[in-house]
Amino acid sequence: MTDHPTPTSDSSPAPVTVIGLGLMGRALAEAFLANGHPTTVWNRSAAKAAALVTHGATLATSARDAVAASPLVIVCVTDDRAVRDVLDPLGDVLTGRVVVNFTSGTSRHAHETGERATRWGAAYLDGVISADPQAIGTGDALLLYSGPHDAFATHESTLQRLGTATHLGEDDGLASRYEMATLSLMWSVLNGFLHGAALLGAAQVDARSFAAFASPGLTMMAGWLTAMAEQIDAGVYPADDSTIDIHRAAMAHLVDESASLGVDVELPRQFRALADRAVAAGRGGDSYAAMIEQFRMPTGARR
Ligand SMILES: NC(=O)c1ccc[n+]([C@@H]2O[C@H](COP(=O)([O-])OP(=O)(O)OC[C@H]3O[C@@H](n4cnc5c(N)ncnc54)[C@H](OP(=O)(O)O)[C@@H]3O)[C@@H](O)[C@H]2O)c1
Repeated sequence: MTDHPTPTSDSSPAPVTVIGLGLMGRALAEAFLANGHPTTVWNRSAAKAAALVTHGATLATSARDAVAASPLVIVCVTDDRAVRDVLDPLGDVLTGRVVVNFTSGTSRHAHETGERATRWGAAYLDGVISADPQAIGTGDALLLYSGPHDAFATHESTLQRLGTATHLGEDDGLASRYEMATLSLMWSVLNGFLHGAALLGAAQVDARSFAAFASPGLTMMAGWLTAMAEQIDAGVYPADDSTIDIHRAAMAHLVDESASLGVDVELPRQFRALADRAVAAGRGGDSYAAMIEQFRMPTGARR
């Protein structure tokens, strides 16, 4: 049975180790230092630790020594390959510690790292940071965690130093799935903005003018999400506002307008193809939330 060390006490900030001192790792370490946590750091290129050492961090001479210094080990490196490069040679020194890995990756990466951590006798929390480095240490930084709840509870007060901490569940892949879902939302919004800016740009309207109109529009759309989610979770899609048929007709206008202005048509064609499928499946009279069925549909099952 893994023994998880506990922080020293509520009044004495617990020691913490940060491995990986890129833009994000340095911000994480700074937040711990600012809150009085004895902070040990290690980076492949030691020079990146210089400012942190000035602020009171202890620079370990090896990743092994860095891990040995704290019950809580934060890892924030480029990718899963780098996580393996750093952690895999360490083995037993990880035993009994809690490893929080903020390195971006898929849920498969999280499961695999969690399995290796279990073999090492460590508790593994997969972490996701929804913030830029400047927001770390403020309530605006949203940090998601998944993995064993007791490991999260043990170190929650320390992790709260980084921003608003939420534990999603015991499945260590959950945090990265939330990250992927958020990335899907982000790129959909950004690509929609860029497509719209290109359309208006063809009429010599600058992107700034569109942004002034699009920003309140986005706030309005954000207000639709909860009601859509309720329909999705219930599996019933009454069209209280407009139907998929109405959306689809407007999508055809968007395709035509894009084509006539020499703007990319792939994105609006993709919208319309999804709506075409929903209509073919008998969903034309339902609300837009019924489009969820097109996203759930495995690629191989499409006509
Ligand atoms: N920056 C953000 O706004 C942000 C936001 C959310 C999530 N994230 C995630 O946080 C992670 C780190 O991002 P970042 O912005 O800090 O990146 P970064 O500035 O490029 O830093 C990358 C870090 O990874 C280390 N590294 C890379 N390969 C390594 C290896 N094979 N062995 C040991 N160390 C290795 C680098 O060490 P060297 O200094 O020696 O090269 C450096 O410390 C990424 O997964 C990113 O997706 C970043």
